[in-house]
Amino acid sequence: MQTVGATDTELTSPGDGSLESPGVAVIGTGYLGATHAICMAALGFRVIGVDVDQAKVTALAGGRLPFFEPGLAELLTVAMETGRLSFTTDFKAAAAHADVHFICVGTPQSADSPAADLSHLEEAIRCLAPHLVHRCLIVGKSTVPIGTAQRLTALVQSAAPAGSLVELAWNPEFLREGHAVEDTLNPDRLVFGVASEWARERLAACYAPIISHSTHVIVTDLPTAELVKVAANSFLATKISYINAMAEVCEATGADVNLLALALSYDSRIGGRFLKPGLGFGGGCLPKDIRAFAHRAQELGVGQAVGFLREVDAINQRRRQRTVDLITEMACGDLTGVPVTVLGAAFKPDSDDIRDAPALDVAHMLHQAGAHVTVYDPQAMGNAKVAYPDLGYADTLEAAVTGAEVVALLTEWDVFRTADPVALGELVARRNIVDGRHALNAAAYRAAHWDYRALGTPTAVVRDLPPVLAADGIKVLATP
Ligand code: UDX
Repeated sequence: MQTVGATDTELTSPGDGSLESPGVAVIGTGYLGATHAICMAALGFRVIGVDVDQAKVTALAGGRLPFFEPGLAELLTVAMETGRLSFTTDFKAAAAHADVHFICVGTPQSADSPAADLSHLEEAIRCLAPHLVHRCLIVGKSTVPIGTAQRLTALVQSAAPAGSLVELAWNPEFLREGHAVEDTLNPDRLVFGVASEWARERLAACYAPIISHSTHVIVTDLPTAELVKVAANSFLATKISYINAMAEVCEATGADVNLLALALSYDSRIGGRFLKPGLGFGGGCLPKDIRAFAHRAQELGVGQAVGFLREVDAINQRRRQRTVDLITEMACGDLTGVPVTVLGAAFKPDSDDIRDAPALDVAHMLHQAGAHVTVYDPQAMGNAKVAYPDLGYADTLEAAVTGAEVVALLTEWDVFRTADPVALGELVARRNIVDGRHALNAAAYRAAHWDYRALGTPTAVVRDLPPVLAADGIKVLATP
């Protein structure tokens, strides 16, 4: 265990006799809350999951996960079998059961501004507070504007019968969809934003099984904990947009963004992660978090400090239009009536989440430009059909590409990466492929007579040459 921050007191575990194991409530059972509730139960806690959506509660209580996340459905079954996990819509029951309440509701972008919409969060507090009659801790995990925890403390203390015995802490969640179980059970770090030693001890008790694996714990004040989350997501978004900005420069110069990223990645100060060029970032976090952060910074009078985030956002949005442009080019400049296959709908592989999904945004733009779009995704079809009923859909990869004049790989699922270009080539009308994620083996596609194109890479085949050993023994990844 490593503790950094406001105190270096040893964190206590529920098993050491000094603290009781807390009863846990998790309010909000979406991607974040369901994962947290299931993992906490698997770790040995008695957990009650609360949601206002009866359908979600019924599904979870019946052992069915209402979304796709690798490994989580299996863990839900295990947790339900222990008898330690239950779900309800009843806040009173949650208040009676728990002395630590994790708030995991969504904080999406507001409909009419870049600010975060905190209505779900405020509603959760309003529903819970009247039932809080004993000392307890409310722990925010949702991503929020700086200052929210302090404001909510006043709100909950005025509404709860227990008054100032109810404390608030902030414990941001960093899990990635597609890796949610692993990230929850083995996080890189835990951040405890607390206003008292008691709150820190309660959080330490909740995370004792994880802390015992030497996980870094950073103890902070409330605003720092809120800031850690948006700062982390802003950094990741900036890194992605940086390499995509370089891709734009590559396109203007004939340079190759993949080789550029590779060369940069060997500098350990830069590193290769989140330096993958392509269609850019989407999802329920990165896009809305950078916008809400820029908005909040403006309110705080430090808008200039994060002014670059608007550029990060703009670079990211340009990738979508550039991808449409490239597909249009391959359709000889006019998409009207052209059958285009879009491979991928989820915002990233191993997820069925389509919130701000770049793939569907591009599919929609292609449709608006007159193309006959057919979408296929291994997991996100149900969600995509509801959100974009005007697009065409196919049930298999093979059915999706049959008759296509242009195929666009927009979400890099393994099933697409490993597809055989020769076999796919037999099904399409024309062998045109746009690799929106730099995920395919360009050489294999070109060898199978596809016109392979990707943003930020030259159309020439130089980089497809296999690595060779030059006469002087140097391994050459590509010749200049
Ligand atoms: C992100 C953060 O990583 C996580 O810590 C936070 O808690 C929630 O937001 P997530 O939205 O699940 O997680 O996805 P992430 O893996 O970060 O990817 C975000 C987007 O960036 C995806 O659309 C992905 O395709 C894209 N991406 C990622 C790139 O375009 N290039 C990269 O190199 C990496």
